[in-house]
Amino acid sequence: MEIEVEDGDGGSGSRGGNVGVVAHLVWEDLTVVVPSFGSGATRRVLQGLSGYAEPGRLMAVMGPSGSGKSTLLDSLAGRLSRNVILSGNVVLNGKKRSLDHDGVAYVTQEDVLLGTLTVKETLTYSAQLRLPTIMTKEKVNSIVEETIKEMGLEHCADQLIGSWHLRGISSGEKKRLSIALEILTQPHLLLLDEPTSGLDNASAFFITQTLKNAAFNGRTVISSIHQPSSEVFALLDDLLLLSNGETVYFGEAKMALQFFAEAGFPCPSRRNPSDHFLHCTNSSFDTVRSTLIRSHKMHEPEQSSDSLMNLGAVEIKATLIEKYNCSKYATKTRSRIREISNTVRNLSIIYELN
Ligand SMILES: Nc1ncnc2c1ncn2[C@@H]1O[C@H](COP(=O)(O)OP(=O)(O)OP(=O)(O)O)[C@@H](O)[C@H]1O
Ligand SMILES: [Mg+2]
Repeated sequence: MEIEVEDGDGGSGSRGGNVGVVAHLVWEDLTVVVPSFGSGATRRVLQGLSGYAEPGRLMAVMGPSGSGKSTLLDSLAGRLSRNVILSGNVVLNGKKRSLDHDGVAYVTQEDVLLGTLTVKETLTYSAQLRLPTIMTKEKVNSIVEETIKEMGLEHCADQLIGSWHLRGISSGEKKRLSIALEILTQPHLLLLDEPTSGLDNASAFFITQTLKNAAFNGRTVISSIHQPSSEVFALLDDLLLLSNGETVYFGEAKMALQFFAEAGFPCPSRRNPSDHFLHCTNSSFDTVRSTLIRSHKMHEPEQSSDSLMNLGAVEIKATLIEKYNCSKYATKTRSRIREISNTVRNLSIIYELN
């Protein structure tokens, strides 16, 4: 494994100082608790999550609404709100520290853009503020042009962003602009919260393909994705599936189907894998399921062959978590975390000796 270690404060790359630097991120036993005030009970939003993200790979965080996807990304980005308590470790390139620094970019769910500027103006102003001041105007402009091209925004570069009273670029284009603003400085770790929400399949595919390209260029990319199409799912390298703040699956995205089959919940042949995973972990489906079972019984009283029809989501989730914890996938995750930690630590020592 080749690792180029950086000190976390950025090096001296051609943009923001992060070119050639890679990010190995490890989180261990991450727990987020919302303390009780008054009579309410303390709530665990994340429950002892462990995992890792590596350069060159695109990881998706999936799970039903309220499962803790944004909380995990906030924890990794060091941007948790102050009313919650975080415990556990988040380690970047062998160093335990807040990730809220140079080289780490976070695209949040909300787009914060100024409606009266054009796409190109937005990127140019941001580049002028965030790229090194010694950079020539020509270089800044060429980076802006390059980013516009990379994000497929050429056709709307001179269009106003727009607002509620001024029609501007589309939601998909806004989302691509938000990502473009973050990749201007070439971060080595890119975190995104639901960049494809509210977009049609083609726009969601385009954005995911862009993230895949960003990962291909050596970045570490972690993104929460809400119910991806099968085409989008096929682009993912790794998958973290959450339910109520617990890990249902962590590992290669393409192995998730095998895990679900081994755990006794195989994906029906014509179902989109991500629909199946969310179906198994979303307790809201219990209501839908009971309605289905009731109507099913009217015609066919025997047990259904679909394993999902005979169990509640709470039961399925508990089984999946138990099976995952003693699976080869969990063992692989634990050993890879140790491997990354040791390799980065050893390289840091060599780096410091030199
Ligand atoms: N700062 C906070 N204070 C109180 N509760 C919180 C806080 N942050 C998160 N939560 C709770 O934790 C749970 C998980 O929230 P989170 O936003 O991480 O879910 P999510 O998976 O991102 O959901 P969605 O898909 O709807 O965006 C929710 O029930 C939320 O209310
Ligand atoms: Mg969220």
